[in-house]
Amino acid sequence: MNLKQVYVSVLMFGVAGLLLFMYLQAWIDEQHAESEEKLKQQMGQDFKFCYTEEPRRAPRKLITSQKLDKSSMVLIESVSSHADASPFPGMTASLPPELSEEQQKIKLLLKQFKQVNLPPAVRPLNKSFIQDDRWKATDEIQEKRRAFLYNFCKKYIRESKPLIHLMRMVSRIYVEDKHKLLYCEVPKAGCSNWKRVLIVLNGLAKTAYNITHDAVHYGKHLKKLDSYDLKGIHMRLKTYTKVIFVRDPMERLVSAFRDKFEHPNSYYHPVFGKAIIKKYRLNADGKALTTGSGVQFKEFIQYLLDSHRPIGMDIHWEQISKLCHPCIINYDFIGKFETLEEDANYFLRLIGAPEGLTFPNFKDRHSTDERTNSEVVRQYLAEISATERQLIYDFYSLDYLMFNYSASYVKP
Ligand SMILES: *[C@@H]1O[C@H](CO)[C@@H](O)[C@H](O)[C@H]1NC(C)=O
Ligand SMILES: *[C@@H]1O[C@H](CO)[C@@H](O)[C@H](O)[C@H]1NC(C)=O
Ligand SMILES: *[C@@H]1O[C@H](CO)[C@@H](O)[C@H](O)[C@H]1NC(C)=O
Repeated sequence: MNLKQVYVSVLMFGVAGLLLFMYLQAWIDEQHAESEEKLKQQMGQDFKFCYTEEPRRAPRKLITSQKLDKSSMVLIESVSSHADASPFPGMTASLPPELSEEQQKIKLLLKQFKQVNLPPAVRPLNKSFIQDDRWKATDEIQEKRRAFLYNFCKKYIRESKPLIHLMRMVSRIYVEDKHKLLYCEVPKAGCSNWKRVLIVLNGLAKTAYNITHDAVHYGKHLKKLDSYDLKGIHMRLKTYTKVIFVRDPMERLVSAFRDKFEHPNSYYHPVFGKAIIKKYRLNADGKALTTGSGVQFKEFIQYLLDSHRPIGMDIHWEQISKLCHPCIINYDFIGKFETLEEDANYFLRLIGAPEGLTFPNFKDRHSTDERTNSEVVRQYLAEISATERQLIYDFYSLDYLMFNYSASYVKP
């Protein structure tokens, strides 16, 4: 063998190894997805809507047409074949560009998406239903928030060109057709009561107070935006009033922890608790390892900040920026949990909700627990180090920046 032959064979070994590795990686991902799926089935209906899988790492090169359903496949394809004319900057994927007739049509439709939202534009709020001065102060704050987010997003979009898949982008948005509303659900920021209000607005219930927690989250009353076809999504994004309610990231995180790990839970304990205890607790006893109950806040934070988490993320502690994509979907109204009732009631008047409908103020789960207020948050944060607090801030930095939350919990 001369030198050239040696070189070629080494190269071929390398390539074969790489291919094998990629194949195995895809296979492992699939197995992982399957076992999660099985677990979900075993556990039945219990957590149907409380659980979302971690948005899978966009599997770029290894994607095959069978793996995606037709519509999302088309979307990725048409967007990528328009790399520079992409309706959402940074939305890319690599798939072959050959398009069928149907795909051509969708491509045309997608072109119009450009007019919907980007570059982010502050669309004036229609205030024709507001007749008195009652809401003046609330409105001023609202306009400031809108302008703030707009200015942030202009810079952010230009600099970081976020990657996103259209169907995933709208997957957390609920639709209310009567009042032409789109509500992006942020768990632990008043979302159960918002869903109740949507059910009432939709005419499916007379009052929000009689709708149980289970009916809200497991019932089939509300439709999500990703259940419509492209045309339906497009029309609604363009013409409906889009609303989001957010919350201080640290408070939201503590609230999620208390809700999911400090009360019996037939999903979060066996699925998340077990994995967390197994990885982060030294000398865990058999009971903790089998039930997954009793996760400590510190352990939960270790899991959150781990770049190799033993189990994926969950919507209750996922970043708002990833759940609702505020820089891509131009929300018309930005409510805050800190001023929930005031913001929500102003919003209800803005959209011309029935006079008698006000935002419910009850806490339907663990209602005897103290609410997660700033005092409670500080108690939890005292259990972790300053470095960990800083890393939590970094993890949620986009949420902090988009909604002008101060870092006051980071350095108490
Ligand atoms: C504002 O809302 C009112 C009531 O729904 C409607 O009649 C009016 O056309 C809207 N104005 C604009 C500019 O959209
Ligand atoms: C709501 O519940 C109360 C009692 O639980 C009942 O009296 C009332 O009729 C219910 N209202 C509606 C609209 O179902
Ligand atoms: C952002 O928050 C700070 C306080 O943390 C406040 O002083 C400032 O007015 C806020 N900016 C806007 C535009 O709301």
